This record gives sequence, structure tokens and C-alpha cells, in this order.
Amino acid sequence: MSKQQGKGDLGLVALTKSFATFTAVHPLDLVVPQGSFFALLGPSGCGKTTTLRMIAGLEEPTSGRIRIGDSDITDTKAYQRNVNTVFQSYALFPHMSVLDNVMFGLRRRGDKDAKAKAKEVLELVQLEQVASKKPTQLSGGMQQRVALARALVNRPDVLLLDEPLGALDLKLRRQMQIELKRIQQEVGLTFIHVTHDQEEAMTMADSIAVMNAGRLEQLGDPATLYEQPRSTFVANFLGQSNLLRATVNPGGTDHVVTVRAHDTDLEVSREHLPEGVRDVWLGVRPEKLRLGEGGGPNQLRGIVRDVSFSGVATQYSVQMPWGQELIVVQQNDGTARAVLGETVTVSWAAQHGFALDASQDAEAGAELVDDHG
Ligand SMILES: Nc1ncnc2c1ncn2[C@@H]1O[C@H](COP(=O)(O)OP(=O)(O)OP(=O)(O)O)[C@@H](O)[C@H]1O
Ligand SMILES: [Mg+2]
Repeated sequence: MSKQQGKGDLGLVALTKSFATFTAVHPLDLVVPQGSFFALLGPSGCGKTTTLRMIAGLEEPTSGRIRIGDSDITDTKAYQRNVNTVFQSYALFPHMSVLDNVMFGLRRRGDKDAKAKAKEVLELVQLEQVASKKPTQLSGGMQQRVALARALVNRPDVLLLDEPLGALDLKLRRQMQIELKRIQQEVGLTFIHVTHDQEEAMTMADSIAVMNAGRLEQLGDPATLYEQPRSTFVANFLGQSNLLRATVNPGGTDHVVTVRAHDTDLEVSREHLPEGVRDVWLGVRPEKLRLGEGGGPNQLRGIVRDVSFSGVATQYSVQMPWGQELIVVQQNDGTARAVLGETVTVSWAAQHGFALDASQDAEAGAELVDDHG
């Protein structure tokens, strides 16, 4: 089960949680490599917090095991696990200074170097100047960093972060994403970051586990998940996708297969086609589509129904003869833009498409995307 689990890796083996008749987490198998920045991503209610709480020891699994390296910690008490959690609510002690907040745990355990260690972490999160202030005198972002410092000072095997940036406004959130990533790289500890924000997961994580309704939907690095989603849910939840109903034509070469979509033959790389499937959704990301014939062998004609300029890029909605509207995003690189009502050709390269089993709902996950725009 725990195939290549290394020395300090976190391993979940068929980890399950049911509440009465409801199963919040179906048997979950996962290896989180030591020292990685790992994101658990999924819509509200998919079981992220429940999974985190089981790792922390705050929730008893219904079945399955949890391991860190060689040791099985499933039955270890929460306070005896070398695991710390940072929540969205900071839960700082308001009457204590920032420094005292950070060294509180170490002191209680009689650590003689508590103060030196706390100061070192405060430097890491760039709060050494406010060490003597009270948490209430700080901004939200600063308070979040105090909470982070308080967890980091224990040098946990695994640091769990449950939507730690959820309470911050968008701009601060973006700053803290970069900051958090820097801190993780500097300390080299394993971070498991829970979020329902796909952009946040993609910017920060080395690996992302996408969860849907208590199950692991797909695991991979951000680029692979984005370029080669294996389900319509992932295709829609991580960015936008155009999905064309198509049927696989027999034959093809080692590299390319043709599919027939709305009376047009289109090419897709064989490696992006699941084996043994005939009816597919042919997916293409909006920025992979080009206006004009220069983008590749796949060409469709349509009418521009919407143009939306956003500075760096322009988003077009191009209506196909069968009524479907394709979303095309073009960088504003100085080339001429298409106008409303214009008939245009939309083209793309075979390797930019991906095919998914058509038995899935094409809209899966789309309504769950929480965009901040
Ligand atoms: N103590 C409990 N008793 C019963 N059901 C629970 C309990 N805790 C969680 N659940 C249910 O389990 C499911 C998963 O909850 P969980 O909190 O893990 O979701 P989440 O992915 O963290 O969602 P969010 O993004 O909203 O925080 C939800 O349907 C929730 O209602
Ligand atoms: Mg949650």
C-alpha cells in the first residue's frame, strides 16, 4: 500500500471517516513526501478538514492507518503527535505578547532555549519588530504569521494549514501565498495546505490532491493536473475547459488519433486519450485556442458573441454552428482583435487537447468554482 513511502513521508492508508450514516472520507490512500508543499483542494464539504483532523489526531478514523515514516500514529494521542495545525482563526492569546505567544508551548515543555527559538522563528516570518506587541495591535496578515510562527517553532514533522488565508482580503492573501511558500522552502518542513481556491493551490503546491465528495479525484503536480485532467470535475474545477462531444475514429497513428465532433474530424494526441473509450469529451483550455488558422490542424468556424477585454488578455465567446459557445483567451500581444459578430476560425494543436470519458457530466465541478473576480 505505502509503495514508496520514505523516511519522513506522511502516509494515509485506506483512511476513512463516517459520521453515522454519512461517509465524509471514503478510503483514502495518499503519500505526502517529506518536505513537500502539498495541497488538499476541493469544494466545500468534500472532506478536507475531516482528513486534516484525522492527521492531527482530533478526529478518530472509522478505519485505515496514518503513518509518518516507519511509525504508525493512528492510535497516538493528538498532543503526542509531532503535528501542528494552523487554522483560519488564529486562536492567539490576546493578553500575551507576540513573543510569549510563540514560545508558550516550548516553555510549558521546559525548553531552555524557548526564547532563542521563538526569536528565530519570528525573524523567519518577519515579525521580529513587533515581538513585544499584543496580537490585537497587529493586522490580520501579521496575526496569521504569529499563528504560523507558533506552529513552526515546534518543528513539526507535518504542519497542517486549514484555509489559513481564508480570512484575508485578496491582495493580502496573494502576498501571504508567496510568503508562506518562501517560509516552507526555508524551513523544509512538510506542509499540508487545505484550500478550496484552485489558484491558491496551483501557485503554492508541489503536489495537489483534488478531492470531490469524500474521494480523491486526481493527484499530481499543478501543471499536470491543469494540462491533463483525468475527469470533467478536474477539468472544470481547475480553470476553465471547453468540452466538445466527440467519437473516436478507428485507426490513427502512434501519436495522434482523430475524433469526430459535430461532423468535423479533430486530432488529439494518443497519450491524452483514455484507453478503450469511444465516446469522449474533447477538452481544450481557453488559452490553447487561437483565433485564426495558424494554431494547428484542428479548426472550427464560429461567430464572436462576446468580447471581454481585461488588460493582459481578451476573452472571446465564439458560437459554433451547433450552438455551443467556446471560450477563447488571447494575450493582448498587439495583434488585431476580433470584433462582436465577426466570423472567425478557432484552431489548436493536437497535443493541447485531452479526451475524457463521455459518460461523465460535462458540467461536473463547474458550479463549485469559487473565483474571486
Ligand atoms: N462532526 C460531524 N458530524 C457529521 N457530519 C460532519 C461532521 N464533520 C463534518 N461533517 C460532514 O462531513 C463533510 C465533510 O466536511 P469537511 O468539514 O471535512 O469539509 P471541507 O472539505 O473541509 O469543507 P469546507 O471547504 O467548507 O471547509 C460535510 O458534509 C460535513 O457536513
Ligand atoms: Mg474545511
